[in-house]
Amino acid sequence: MGDDNRYAEHIPVLRDDFIEALFTDPDGCYVDCTFGRGGHSRELLARLSEKGRLLAIDRDLEAVAEGERLAAEDARFTIVHADFASLGETLDELGWLQVSGIGFDLGVSSPQVDSAERGFSFQKSGPLDMRMDLSSGQPLSVKLAHVSERELADIIYRYGDERYSRRIAKAILRARHDGELNTTSDLENICFHSVPKQARHSGAHPATRTFQALRIWVNAEMEQIDAGIQAAVDHLAPGGRLAVISFHSGEDRRIRNLIDALVHPCTCPPQMPVCVCGKTPSMRWLQKKPVRPGEAEIAANPRSRSSLMRVAERISEAEGKKLAGYSGRVQ
Ligand SMILES: C[S@@+](CC[C@H](N)C(=O)[O-])C[C@H]1O[C@@H](n2cnc3c(N)ncnc32)[C@H](O)[C@@H]1O
Repeated sequence: MGDDNRYAEHIPVLRDDFIEALFTDPDGCYVDCTFGRGGHSRELLARLSEKGRLLAIDRDLEAVAEGERLAAEDARFTIVHADFASLGETLDELGWLQVSGIGFDLGVSSPQVDSAERGFSFQKSGPLDMRMDLSSGQPLSVKLAHVSERELADIIYRYGDERYSRRIAKAILRARHDGELNTTSDLENICFHSVPKQARHSGAHPATRTFQALRIWVNAEMEQIDAGIQAAVDHLAPGGRLAVISFHSGEDRRIRNLIDALVHPCTCPPQMPVCVCGKTPSMRWLQKKPVRPGEAEIAANPRSRSSLMRVAERISEAEGKKLAGYSGRVQ
């Protein structure tokens, strides 16, 4: 692919909504926690003044290499190879304690899914890897060598909402034991033959949910979300924005609950007339419902179909104190 097309490899999802949600101050400091191919970062840079700054993070070395090319062209931009669970340390080291906006566009990028050798896709035969960061962690093949059937079934059920999780887990471990599980095609085939015949050709491919679940497990994605969002909230300035794009209901539920606990932290029993727990809100929702792509975006980029975005704003301590006692009960 020629240089001009480098960042066209991934079409940014909900791009304009994401930027509108995050952007409040042209002179502000922003963080893109999931650089990918920089679709969102480039749009943010287009709106920033000479004084504005953008830090991007990605755990994928190819994404970071693309970010380094952008950093060489634009002095307002910096990229760091890290996972966003360590966002707090990264921002502390840089002294970024009052950030104007922090965004997450979760999951994998098109270049990751489209390269067979990364092992994310059941449509292409590749190794059983699935790591976003090839410089650390264990590939799927190694993790499968140390997991029990019960744990594996739980993972496939919990992260994939897969109703046939037990049958699939059993078949995966049997094939591994028999030396018949070596590639993503083998895994796809096992998932396909583990579900009842009538479920093989209706709806999404029978491997979709299992591949999603295993990817979440390999990359500890839920733990990353917990730590990343907490660090983001801790480093936002009052009025600073948090925008999170996710791609499936389990992820969205987790994000909604994490932010809800900061919007409504009061733990007093509902019958208490006033709040006595002393927990004050630190965030407010900017949209009650998640933002979803319109038909035109879905038609232009089918991968955006399942995306949804949550947006919240950091509030000051004084505002939080004013709201305390109402949050979680009256609101
Ligand atoms: C959906 S893509 C982002 C695409 C990007 N917004 C764009 O427009 O090009 C997700 C990116 O986030 C990275 N990523 C996912 N989880 C991460 C984590 N916990 N820490 C750092 N990077 C992560 C992936 O490696 C991938 O490059």
